[in-house]
Amino acid sequence: MSPCNSSRDDQTAIIHYKESRDMKKMDTDFHKLNKRVLKTYGKKFEVSPDALVSAPGRVNLIGEYTDFNRGFVLPMAIDRYLVMALGKREDEIIRVISEDFKEETSVDINALAKKEKHSWGDYISGSIWALKKNGCNVHGFNCVISGNIPVGAGLSSSAALEMAVLRAASWISGIPWNQTEMAKLGQLAENRWVGVNCGIMDQLTSSAGKKGHALLIDCETLSVQPCPVPEISVLVMDTATRRNLVASAYNERRQQCLTAAGKMGLSSLRGADMALLEKNRSCMDADTSNRAEHVIKENIRVLDAVQAMEKNDPRKLGKLIYKSHESLRDCFDVSSPALNDIVECSMEEPACFGARMTGAGFGGCAIALTEKGKEQEFIRNVSLCYEKKTGLEPAIYVCSPSDGVAVKTLKKSLMS
Ligand code: GLA
Repeated sequence: MSPCNSSRDDQTAIIHYKESRDMKKMDTDFHKLNKRVLKTYGKKFEVSPDALVSAPGRVNLIGEYTDFNRGFVLPMAIDRYLVMALGKREDEIIRVISEDFKEETSVDINALAKKEKHSWGDYISGSIWALKKNGCNVHGFNCVISGNIPVGAGLSSSAALEMAVLRAASWISGIPWNQTEMAKLGQLAENRWVGVNCGIMDQLTSSAGKKGHALLIDCETLSVQPCPVPEISVLVMDTATRRNLVASAYNERRQQCLTAAGKMGLSSLRGADMALLEKNRSCMDADTSNRAEHVIKENIRVLDAVQAMEKNDPRKLGKLIYKSHESLRDCFDVSSPALNDIVECSMEEPACFGARMTGAGFGGCAIALTEKGKEQEFIRNVSLCYEKKTGLEPAIYVCSPSDGVAVKTLKKSLMS
């Protein structure tokens, strides 16, 4: 049992997610995704595009809610992407067609404005705003986007969109690419333009991902160390639940972490340890000290997880992952009944090394690590178990550690 026992959040705002963008109906074939944006680009703009950009989503193996505390995280970019076909324009307009939403938006580089109602277009204008704020000259371009990262599932579809826009705009405008600096701009767009106070993990993972590897990121120095993922399968388990108002709950957790650090005389929780927390616990409320306890122990778990991966010890890695989930549920209070149910179903499976919620939580996805070759049995059993518990149909699928954002120059061909 975890020592923490936070007051439960009201769970009434949970939405049961049954939209057409449900993962099961998504096209998981990367090549088909590329073909689709190329075709639409040709149809809409009557020329062939100049380049193709792809930016991956991510799962976080361990190290949750540690990034904005300057701690350690261990995410990996996954083989689910936001892809974009793009071509230069002569003016300073960016015209974007979303294949998935069947919508269009235009961004005037010289008159950037947020949409009245928050929309996907804000991630585009926000990324351009961040580039300009950094002193970059951005040229106009046309583009068509499509993706197979489910929205709002905790797999960082918005970070992938930001990194794709930054990669595209840099390529078109001749701006040198630096994976860390660009990830910082993606984060800046999200913090200051979109208004979500996220850390750097999602953008840096989408930017720096490496095939076959997870990334140990030190969020204080922003150093990225690729760590080979052992011979196990990583599964995404979409609970088919989403929750409104995640941003305000997220920002509240961030504030609580800052308060806890302040009470210990620190500027962030990176320098805290359990001894210091125990000394200061009495001057914090229970929720605040529980948040700090999670972060302190989670940072240690990340480093232990890296060691377990180095020693090719999936059982140890799995135990740490279960512990992380417990702590997010009981100390940090960002799990949900659906996430807990799917993790509990996973625990019953002998082939499962470990499972936990991933990303911001409150709904969305969990991950499981399983023995190779046992994935289908795991998917069948966990789906049945979860459906029995909740009446909901989950989407469970295998994902692979993948490379980060990439741009491919296309040879010009005449469109018929
Ligand atoms: C979201 C944020 C990240 C990180 C996680 C929680 O994904 O965007 O920066 O804080 O939540 O670990």
